[in-house]
Amino acid sequence: MNKKISPSMMCANFLNLENDIRIFEKAGIEYLHIDIMDGQFVPNYTLGVDYCKKLKEATKIPLDLHLMITEPERKLDWFAPALCAGDYVSIHCESTVHAQRALKKIRSLGAKPMLALNPATPLVALENVLDDIDAALVMTVNPGYAGQELIPATLKKIKRLREYLDGSGYPNIEIEVDGNVSFENARLMSEAGAGIFVAGSSSVYKAGADIAENIQKLREAVKR
Ligand code: DX5
Ligand code: ZN
Repeated sequence: MNKKISPSMMCANFLNLENDIRIFEKAGIEYLHIDIMDGQFVPNYTLGVDYCKKLKEATKIPLDLHLMITEPERKLDWFAPALCAGDYVSIHCESTVHAQRALKKIRSLGAKPMLALNPATPLVALENVLDDIDAALVMTVNPGYAGQELIPATLKKIKRLREYLDGSGYPNIEIEVDGNVSFENARLMSEAGAGIFVAGSSSVYKAGADIAENIQKLREAVKR
């Protein structure tokens, strides 16, 4: 499967968003990663429903919504007007006792369901919902903030998950990685089996080079 880049929009320049979006379109960026935080599941607030709607109006690049909110199954309808076929929506298995219900709901809204796992969450959390997901999100830092350091144990977790999915007859379930996806870490994550790379302050939005150059550099890093 082709490797895909999903720039983290919480790292973008909010005062010049249009500029970034046009660069992404030109560079063939596959997804826009939007972090939705509720101040309860994670200790931060970031982007919200109206932001998603505005982005949808501004570009055809599919959205990659990362919901870091409690009981997402009760709030998915809020996002429905901003969703199309081809958009991903991830929910955290730690955020609800009804993960399967939430994943099924995402599918019914016409989007692609993804289950997110915090660094300490074991892979067995995915075992019973393989038919309900199109992707798994392996958090490589604890969610909540940009600019954190990779938790090294998560590299082996990506590899184990890729082997498990392939061995269980689910080679089409993609693995997304989120958190300190630097050029060097992205290479290791890619070799471990990751397919979608959330690109924040460690790569696409890294200071010192322009966004288009950083995208090229990240593409090189995840080639294999
Ligand atoms: C949280 C975010 C962050 C961040 C990723 O879910 O998605 O992980 O923006 O970019 P880095 O870690 O490179 O700042
Ligand atoms: Zn995220």
